[in-house]
Parts: sequence; structure tokens; C-alpha cells
Amino acid sequence: MENCVVVYKSKTGFTEKYATWIAEELGCELYPLANVNMVNLSDYDMIIFGGGVRAGKIGGIKFVNNTRISFPNKKLVIFATGATPSNETEAIEKVQNMNVPRNSGIPFFYFQSGFNYEKMKGVDKLVMNMVRGIMRKMKDKDGTQNEMIGTMKNSYDHSSREFIEPLVSYVKTL
Ligand SMILES: Cc1cc2nc3c(=O)[nH]c(=O)nc-3n(C[C@H](O)[C@H](O)[C@H](O)COP(=O)(O)O)c2cc1C
Repeated sequence: MENCVVVYKSKTGFTEKYATWIAEELGCELYPLANVNMVNLSDYDMIIFGGGVRAGKIGGIKFVNNTRISFPNKKLVIFATGATPSNETEAIEKVQNMNVPRNSGIPFFYFQSGFNYEKMKGVDKLVMNMVRGIMRKMKDKDGTQNEMIGTMKNSYDHSSREFIEPLVSYVKTL
């Protein structure tokens, strides 16, 4: 196994949880993005970056672009956490296309999480309250809406440690 570090950006704790599981599983060091200036990235062969998805964008993804420029020879892996269920492959591909630098060949992994309204702050809290309000008012034709409202009404956590397996296996084979 290579000498690796997991760097993550997490606002409500989901990405932090996945980052911790990955670091434990692979024996990597673990740093929040805010502390990355304390890390000497040149010490690592492999840098794994993770962030939560907000309106399709992975939080902190700039870090990957900066790292690619500063350390073109490092192996990079990106993971994202989001409320989108893992079987919604089209939506997940969109996230990949929006965030993973084109033609970079950087492997991308997606892990389902949930919503934590208690830990949300500022604009995120406001936006999600609006979304939930709008959803409640929307007419429901096929029951899908009702199901979504039910799921999103309160905080929920669909994350699971076993979801990291594809990433862990990938890194272990390098
Ligand atoms: C304002 C807002 C927008 C979000 N947009 C998306 C989204 O576009 N796709 C998605 O799958 N999840 C979305 N989510 C859910 C978050 O991606 C999910 O809670 C994520 O795991 C948060 O990570 P964190 O707790 O590490 O910050 C959104 C959450 C908030 C608060």
C-alpha cells in the first residue's frame, strides 16, 4: 500500500464520517481541508479527496485542481457524498462530469449519505427549508413526491461503511 492521506471538506459530518472510515481501512492520515496547510503533501504518494455535494458541486473540489498543478505526479482519488440514492446513476454521472477535471483520469467514487438539518447553517439551512416547503406544496401525480417528502421531512442518514469497499479495493490494488 502506498503512503496516503485523506483530505475532506464536510459541513454536516457525512463526508467526515466516510473520510474517517476510509483512513481507518487504508491506514492513511486524515485531515480536514481547513488544516491542509499544516500538511506536507509532497510526503504522500496518494491523495484521496472527499466533499459533500451541494447543487451538484463537490465542496472544496478546488483543492484537487490546485493539487494537480502543484503535484502533477501524485495519484489522486475523488469521492463525493450526497443525498442522491446510489442507484441514480445518471445523477451521479452528472456530479462526476461537473467536478472531476476532464481527461484527468482521476477515479471518482460516490457514497450515499442523507440530510442533517440540525447541523446545517446559514444559506444551506435556508435553501433546504425552502426546498422542503416547495415540495410540500407541489402536486403529486405518481406518489414519488410523497415518498421524497417523507424521506426528506426529518434528518436521516443512509450512509454505511460497506459503501467504501470499491474505493478501498481500488486503492489497495495500486
Ligand atoms: C443546500 C444543500 C444542497 C444539496 N445538494 C445536493 C445535491 O445536489 N445532490 C445530492 O446528492 N445531495 C445534495 N445535498 C445533500 C448533501 O450532499 C449531503 O447531506 C452531504 O453528505 C453533505 O456532506 P457533509 O455533511 O460532509 O457536508 C445537499 C445538501 C444541502 C444542505
